[in-house]
Amino acid sequence: MNYEGKRILVTGGLGFIGSSIAVRLAAMGAKVLVLDSAIRGCGANARNLAGAEVEIIEDDIANAGNHARVLSGIPVVFNMAGEISHINSMRNPLRDLELNTTAQLRFLLALREVSPGARVIYASTRQVYGVPQFLPITEAHHVNPIDFNGVHKNAAASYHRLFSESGDFDATVLRFTNVYGPRMALNVPEQGVLGHFFRRALLGDPIEIFGDGKQTRDPVYIDDVVDACLRCAAREKLPHIYMNVGGPAAIPLAEMAATVAAAGGCPLRYREFPEGHKSIDIGSYSTDSTRIGETIGWSTNTSFVDGVANTLAYYRAEFEHYLDAPDAARLRP
Ligand SMILES: NC(=O)c1ccc[n+]([C@@H]2O[C@H](COP(=O)([O-])OP(=O)(O)OC[C@H]3O[C@@H](n4cnc5c(N)ncnc54)[C@H](O)[C@@H]3O)[C@@H](O)[C@H]2O)c1
Repeated sequence: MNYEGKRILVTGGLGFIGSSIAVRLAAMGAKVLVLDSAIRGCGANARNLAGAEVEIIEDDIANAGNHARVLSGIPVVFNMAGEISHINSMRNPLRDLELNTTAQLRFLLALREVSPGARVIYASTRQVYGVPQFLPITEAHHVNPIDFNGVHKNAAASYHRLFSESGDFDATVLRFTNVYGPRMALNVPEQGVLGHFFRRALLGDPIEIFGDGKQTRDPVYIDDVVDACLRCAAREKLPHIYMNVGGPAAIPLAEMAATVAAAGGCPLRYREFPEGHKSIDIGSYSTDSTRIGETIGWSTNTSFVDGVANTLAYYRAEFEHYLDAPDAARLRP
């Protein structure tokens, strides 16, 4: 993978996954441009890019056409902008449609004008599969999302497929499972279970498990996700548009919570599913990542235990930048 001197666009580059890609690319000598609207309710955090040599345009990807000169002739795009919250999408479907679908279509139409043929890696989600009919889930599993976020993200993924099939771009859609690690937002509500676990562990508050905690997830550490994205973009015209990116093991939520609680030194608590959560719970999930392994030689390197330790170490040093002021005050010596 030689990204040295290459111009690369990272959308959503102030957020968790986008910034992790941007930081890694900048360290490899790439000329990184970030396009991010820093919209409230998502995980944008200027601290995520601290110390990295990147250019930032703070704007909606829907307005990419206004930045035609700077976006012209970009060979590689990591398209990570999006709203990740399933709960928020149920509360406000039109906002989710705007951010995850309309903005994506506007972005791709503008990009096609100024950077035709670009290699585009799009961040899709396991949520498009809906309730698993078999486990682990392969790309052959039907797409049947059970929340608006999944529907809208799937539409955006289909735009990438269409543009790719028509020769406008060379796109790959990566379907991520739950991603965790340094730079994920801890203080943004409804962004997923692991951010909640890490915040509680840092503060020493009880970690809450909804229901019996027997449903599995296969969390994947951010460094492994960055590897998948960079390896993918370095290869052209892959035989598949869609590829799953899963973690190293399927783990019951109660066990995940216990691992984080043990590393953080905090108690565990069981409770009923809160209002709105049960109807969009997909039950157990685990990924079959064989396709991406065979196609680009990717596999995970980080176990959940190691990833949790790395993540907590990062936030112990950086809590001032990732917790709200009253929470941060609790951690100051
Ligand atoms: N984190 C996960 O576990 C996970 C799992 C599956 C898929 N994904 C996908 O990966 C992508 C990145 O997720 P993340 O965890 O980094 O989220 P995040 O909230 O940390 O970052 C998303 C970033 O996108 C920006 N953004 C959103 N809509 C935008 C728009 N229209 N124009 C410009 N900027 C916009 C936000 O400001 C934010 O900085 C998302 O598309 C998400 O759906 C994430």
